[in-house]
Amino acid sequence: MIIAPSILSADFSILKEEIKTILEAEWIHIDIMDGHFVPNLTIGPDVVKSIRKHSKQVFDTHLMIDEPEKYVDPFIEAGSDHITFHIETDTDHDALIDYLHEKDVKAGLSIKPNTSIQTIQPYLHKLDIILVMSVEPGFGGQSFIEPMVEKMKKLSRLRKENDYHYKIVVDGGINAKTAKQCKDAGVDVLVAGSYIFKANDRLKAIRCLK
Ligand code: DX5
Ligand code: ZN
Repeated sequence: MIIAPSILSADFSILKEEIKTILEAEWIHIDIMDGHFVPNLTIGPDVVKSIRKHSKQVFDTHLMIDEPEKYVDPFIEAGSDHITFHIETDTDHDALIDYLHEKDVKAGLSIKPNTSIQTIQPYLHKLDIILVMSVEPGFGGQSFIEPMVEKMKKLSRLRKENDYHYKIVVDGGINAKTAKQCKDAGVDVLVAGSYIFKANDRLKAIRCLK
């Protein structure tokens, strides 16, 4: 299992030190919010660029923004290895996936809890990442929405049947219990914010999720 701590729950005033506490994790999940697509605002590419200097981990950037095509370049230049954007955005999804691949960046699509897998069906063969939101995007610390487990199972089944190569990533409400449910459903990557950053022993929390 790959663990991707979400720095949304980190202390932004000491981000460099916060990153040192999660070096055990393979990926770092970076939540970008624009106050339009979701009712919250976070960081831009300059912050990503500054933390890039302090980590060799995979930067997994989750764009919760409208018009993602306008902002992918600055996030790639800032050092993102993966860019995941939402199917619910009004953009040319096919073209944006191709563009990310041209730039040698892994491409992901995310679906909100009320969005069906059918909406991303045409892109499954070329996606590197499918990010299943197990909470409504916008805030950390929410509870896992149980029925999302069915989506994970279906994505895992579709991958097997069709020989697709995407990784199944789950984001929201991950703790020791929900991690186990996701693992059993065939998930490859767990994004966890509060479970890791609010833990007394972050290393132990990461190992426990693994
Ligand atoms: C929510 C973000 C998540 C968030 C998860 O919109 O996409 O990455 O940080 O936080 P927890 O793990 O606290 O649910
Ligand atoms: Zn996220």
